[in-house]
Amino acid sequence: KEVINIGLLGFGTVGTGIVKILTENAGSIAQKVGAPVVIKKILVRNPKKARGSKIDADIVTDAAEVIHDPDIDIIVEVMGGEQPAKDYMLQALNAGKHVVTANKDVVAKYGRELFAAAEKNHVDFLFEGSVGGGIPIITPLKQCLAANQITEVMGIVNGTTNYMLTKMTREHLDFDSVLKEAQAQGYAEADPTADVGGWDAARKIAILASIAFGTRVSLEDVYVEGITNVSLEDVDYAKELGYVIKLLAIAKRDDQGISVRVHPAFIPATHPLAAVNDVYNAIYVKGDAVGETMFYGRGAGSLPTASAVVGDIIDEARDLQNQVSSRILCTCFEQTPIYSVEH
Ligand code: NAP
Ligand code: HSE
Repeated sequence: KEVINIGLLGFGTVGTGIVKILTENAGSIAQKVGAPVVIKKILVRNPKKARGSKIDADIVTDAAEVIHDPDIDIIVEVMGGEQPAKDYMLQALNAGKHVVTANKDVVAKYGRELFAAAEKNHVDFLFEGSVGGGIPIITPLKQCLAANQITEVMGIVNGTTNYMLTKMTREHLDFDSVLKEAQAQGYAEADPTADVGGWDAARKIAILASIAFGTRVSLEDVYVEGITNVSLEDVDYAKELGYVIKLLAIAKRDDQGISVRVHPAFIPATHPLAAVNDVYNAIYVKGDAVGETMFYGRGAGSLPTASAVVGDIIDEARDLQNQVSSRILCTCFEQTPIYSVEH
């Protein structure tokens, strides 16, 4: 192909980062792919909104026909929410287009349906940006650690709440003002209840557990407790005792079954997870062959998340250019749970 054309659904925090990376790193990306990767159309809710990015206004549209544009090779969904994002992705896969997304809501709930559509249409569905922001974690679990029996995946997987807890601890700022700061930084979901209520972390750990344990773990299987009841007094109390409060997501497998949970926890100030601050995430993975591994980096934000999404775009564009598909099918989303889930 002379050019790989992208249809971008969403031009907010993450979409803007994707455009910036594809523009500023266009030369090196074209070299890696073997052809320029170009954004052909961008779907938004309001095309008249002023945008900071230097892009041709003509490519911004509110017409969902973008999905069916025959010149578009890859649809990149960064709109968020369940609908219409899920239907748009399904339409794109059924139209024979590869799909890249950062949408954990849709992957956690409809992953199985989307993988089935991808398989049926011989196209790919990639979602590295859906967990851990810029941290590579989906591909390592699917590919690099595939030799292992994974027994544990745990850590900090929500940037907004970690940013909030860090600010409450270090600067003694109250819950509402630190939430506003996290929203202003572009870390929070459109509805921040998903962040502070623990649901965002729950969706992410359900996705990771599904891949790590090779069975379908859905949101309903996860025990969820967020940080809405964590007060400045709790944070001070923890500090006095030599602890910090962190929102942990934990998935374990043993002979008895699988347990998956999200809740705030007191962590000794000397523990490595206590040093994971601000918007950073850290994810431990324990495998029988590799032992313990840890993945660390910015868990949310425009450029870090866009870094993961553009990584998937490049991967896909390279395959298109070389007319190969190196995809590992995510069969984990196709099974029903084979273990009991303990709460
Ligand atoms: P955002 O800033 O709210 O941007 C959403 C974009 O989608 C906007 O451009 C909006 O259009 C467009 N949009 C929303 N609903 C639409 C609809 N029905 N039709 C057409 N366009 C629509 O969201 P974001 O923070 O970039 O997040 C996007 C996705 O990435 C979400 O799934 C989120 O969970 C995920 N994610 C976000 C982060 C992060 O740090 N923010 C990190 C990892 C993953 P307008 O511009 O016209 O309003
Ligand atoms: N709202 C999410 C977070 C975005 O704060 O972690 C990254 O998935």
